[in-house]
Amino acid sequence: MGTLVLGLLTLSGLCALLALLLEAAHAVFTDYGPCRISINDGAKELSVKGGGRLLGTLMDQGIFIPSACGGRGSCGLCKVRVLEGGGPLLPTETPYLNAEETANGTRLSCQVRVRTNIVIHIPEAFFLIKEFRTRVVGLRPLTPSIKEVHLKLLDPSEIVFKPGQFIQFYVPEYAGSPEPVYRAYSIASPARLKSEIKLVITRVERGVATTYIHTLLKEGQEVRINGPYGDFYLRPSDREMIMIGTGSGLAPLMSILYQMADEGIDRPCTLYFGVKSRADLFYQEEIRELAQKLPRFRYVPVLSQPLPDDQWDGETGFVTDAVARDVKDGSQMEAYLCGNPLMIDAAVKLLTQRGLTEDRIFFDKFN
Ligand SMILES: Cc1cc2nc3c(=O)[nH]c(=O)nc-3n(C[C@H](O)[C@H](O)[C@H](O)COP(=O)(O)OP(=O)(O)OC[C@H]3O[C@@H](n4cnc5c(N)ncnc54)[C@H](O)[C@@H]3O)c2cc1C
Ligand code: FES
Repeated sequence: MGTLVLGLLTLSGLCALLALLLEAAHAVFTDYGPCRISINDGAKELSVKGGGRLLGTLMDQGIFIPSACGGRGSCGLCKVRVLEGGGPLLPTETPYLNAEETANGTRLSCQVRVRTNIVIHIPEAFFLIKEFRTRVVGLRPLTPSIKEVHLKLLDPSEIVFKPGQFIQFYVPEYAGSPEPVYRAYSIASPARLKSEIKLVITRVERGVATTYIHTLLKEGQEVRINGPYGDFYLRPSDREMIMIGTGSGLAPLMSILYQMADEGIDRPCTLYFGVKSRADLFYQEEIRELAQKLPRFRYVPVLSQPLPDDQWDGETGFVTDAVARDVKDGSQMEAYLCGNPLMIDAAVKLLTQRGLTEDRIFFDKFN
């Protein structure tokens, strides 16, 4: 068993080394010269340095394609139609494309390299996504592993977003990362506050962005973000709502709850918030204040591993266990889920078993 694990670790180490060498060789030995990118029937023509990936090349030109995985080919959001010059479809792209998309030239822009003149088509809405210069005006530990990052917008000085949406946070090259990376973070603050946003960021062990944010980011520092992105937002309806969040997955749900309070949206709504122990609960005061403004709102915190000192007499187990105990018939409900991908898969399975149709289940998986 030990030999097998050692073998696998050696193999994955060699693969990572090979990928790095290939990337380095690519940078050194390939010079594609200037290339032209023609967008939306020539509505925009760009002259760019060839060789880079389409996603990053467009970003350098101020055109932001939705992305949540920082270009790692694992979110499937960065789709654009490449009509000419995109090269062959890669195996890394096919899992994210349906038959219609494959036929109409849709590609993952993070996987396509600009090696020649290229003709693309993107939705007009993408031209509205902007990059913002911001300043860190607050860094606050919310739990032992979660920090709130409060950003003031400098230029542009305001952001318009739908509560529930996310931004991409730019992390510069540092000792823990040989190259800059982008990571997605949901906006936790109310949309009415246009000149500032709050993010809620869980530290991930050896995580490139979260190590930087938790250990190196300082108040007063300038930070680049771009956005807003995503289709996780409140749908207009009178249906009873169920919200399920784990850890920092509470962030976009808070923004949606602020929207409901600000706009007087009085729908029956239960928020199930799953964490390990009492120390992992956060925004409890804010949730109490929201509950006073939302007459039909109910809050159910659920601890999966309460400690003896927690003196917890509330719900325990997985957050989905608590939902299963409460919801017997979900056929008239609408669900908003956010956080751990395993929780979301379990919640979707449970809710559909309880009669909720998939077109009324909205989620953002934090992966
Ligand atoms: C739409 C969207 C919104 C998001 N919003 C938030 C948010 O509001 N707050 C927030 O904290 N995160 C959020 N995330 C996750 C975030 O984008 C990063 O993936 C996360 O912060 C890890 O980044 P990293 O660079 O530190 O880790 P990486 O260097 O990317 O990953 C390091 C290792 O940790 C693993 N890993 C990555 N994430 C996790 C995790 N959460 N738990 C355990 N292992 C992990 C990876 O598989 C990898 O093996 C969101 C993700 C998406 C797709
Ligand atoms: S950016 Fe995530 S798949 Fe391309």
